[in-house]
Amino acid sequence: MVAFSSLFVFSLAGSAVAFPTYQSLAGMSERDLEDLIPTLPVGFLKPPPGPLAFNGTKLVNDPAHPYKKPGPFDIRGPCPGLNTLANHGYLPRSGVATPQEIITAVMEGFNMENRIAVFVTYAAFIVDGNPITNLMSIGGKTIRTGIDPPKPAIVGGLNTHSVFEGDTSMTRGDFHHGDNHSLNMTLWAQFVDYSNTYGGGFYDLPAANELRNQRIAQSLATNPEFDFTSPRFFTAYAESVFPINFFRDGRIADGKLDMAAAEEFFLHERFPKNFHRKPVPGGTEGFNYLAQRSNIQPGRNNGTVNSYVPDPTSANFSTPCLLYNNFVLRTIKGLYPNPKGLLRYALDTALDNFYAGFGNPNCPQVFPW
Ligand code: HEM
Ligand SMILES: *[C@@H]1O[C@H](CO)[C@@H](O)[C@H](O)[C@H]1NC(C)=O
Ligand SMILES: *[C@@H]1O[C@H](CO)[C@@H](O)[C@H](O)[C@H]1NC(C)=O
Ligand SMILES: *[C@@H]1O[C@H](CO)[C@@H](O)[C@H](O)[C@H]1NC(C)=O
Ligand SMILES: *[C@@H]1O[C@H](CO)[C@@H](O)[C@H](O)[C@H]1NC(C)=O
Ligand SMILES: *[C@@H]1O[C@H](CO)[C@@H](O)[C@H](O)[C@H]1NC(C)=O
Repeated sequence: MVAFSSLFVFSLAGSAVAFPTYQSLAGMSERDLEDLIPTLPVGFLKPPPGPLAFNGTKLVNDPAHPYKKPGPFDIRGPCPGLNTLANHGYLPRSGVATPQEIITAVMEGFNMENRIAVFVTYAAFIVDGNPITNLMSIGGKTIRTGIDPPKPAIVGGLNTHSVFEGDTSMTRGDFHHGDNHSLNMTLWAQFVDYSNTYGGGFYDLPAANELRNQRIAQSLATNPEFDFTSPRFFTAYAESVFPINFFRDGRIADGKLDMAAAEEFFLHERFPKNFHRKPVPGGTEGFNYLAQRSNIQPGRNNGTVNSYVPDPTSANFSTPCLLYNNFVLRTIKGLYPNPKGLLRYALDTALDNFYAGFGNPNCPQVFPW
């Protein structure tokens, strides 16, 4: 790291902001830290937004949120939901956002339930975002999230493989095959094909189940590095029900997503005309339907295709506390083995938010440091 003076000044979103360097903070006293924190223009002390005041369906593709194609410097990534929100200005169109902005946007635009939104957003933010500037890229790595904390922290944005993004996505290729974040037209055609074959032309739970198992079979057979351990073991099933829960117009109650709407979201990353969000807050409906039909244990291919070895140390559907524990004690601690000063303070705050979003009273909070 370059030796900065005790304050390093850089320009963020047009305004000059001063941050102490991480090095200068190591060894800072609690007292100094308390004096310093109120002077910082950073957002991590802001609590996550609470539930929506009005939580019913409403028109969200409205005149205040017009679709605009992303510009050449706007960042998009592996999540069709967040990309759509950025293309409509529910998120900053730049694709660089705070966790608070992401939580508000997924609630406003899609009626994602507050605790689910807090949980998913902070899980991603802690591993892929910058804890000090409180900014995260919804795609690739960028200097626009500020100066990185020391390695092994990555602060790579949502494209970063293995900490949150993972293998066996419905419409994105595996990391091993190169592009892990943009829509793959072959996989998109398979999504449509499975919806036609198993959902009578719609993406519904039976189609989601068949497609999930097909994508797992493809990764097993073609990706020697296929990794299907926690948290990916969980997020893969959750993301499989998101299109049914969120991309369906809130005025339609039949549990099926038609291909015209699916195409708007996956191919164009925009709301269909007159799109209304979900009628009640939620997001994980149907997860248990898929989990009960899952025929694979968490594990990974062992360096060659079709060499899958279950990993009993990974969380599975019967061990939800282990999902949370592994994420904090392995994934997060792996990126931040021994944070100090302000960085530690920021991470602790984010970890508290993450635990609050997890909200499982049977799982005690764990602390990595
Ligand atoms: C709450 C904050 C959210 C974050 C941080 C997030 C992040 C991500 C990431 C990183 C992926 C890539 C997974 C992978 O390929 O390994 C993903 C996939 C996905 N996300 Fe999101 N997401 C969020 C909310 C949403 C919402 C609200 C929706 C729907 C409206 C959504 C829909 C999807 C879908 C359908 C996929 C699967 C894409 C595929 O498998 O082809 N997400 N998300
Ligand atoms: C939605 O709003 C109603 C009315 O304020 C409230 O009673 C209900 O608990 C809310 N639902 C959720 C899941 O937040
Ligand atoms: C994701 O895919 C791109 C290639 O499209 C690659 O450059 C990048 O390194 C991959 N993974 C990560 C770590 O972002
Ligand atoms: C899309 O996915 C298919 C099937 O996995 C693969 O053969 C192809 O190379 C991918 N295309 C791109 C552009 O990544
Ligand atoms: C994984 O592969 C290595 C090297 O090929 C081999 O020695 C080991 O036995 C394999 N592990 C399992 C559990 O199959
Ligand atoms: C889940 O993992 C635990 C060990 O962590 C194991 O005892 C249990 O058998 C696994 N559950 C299933 C359904 O295999």
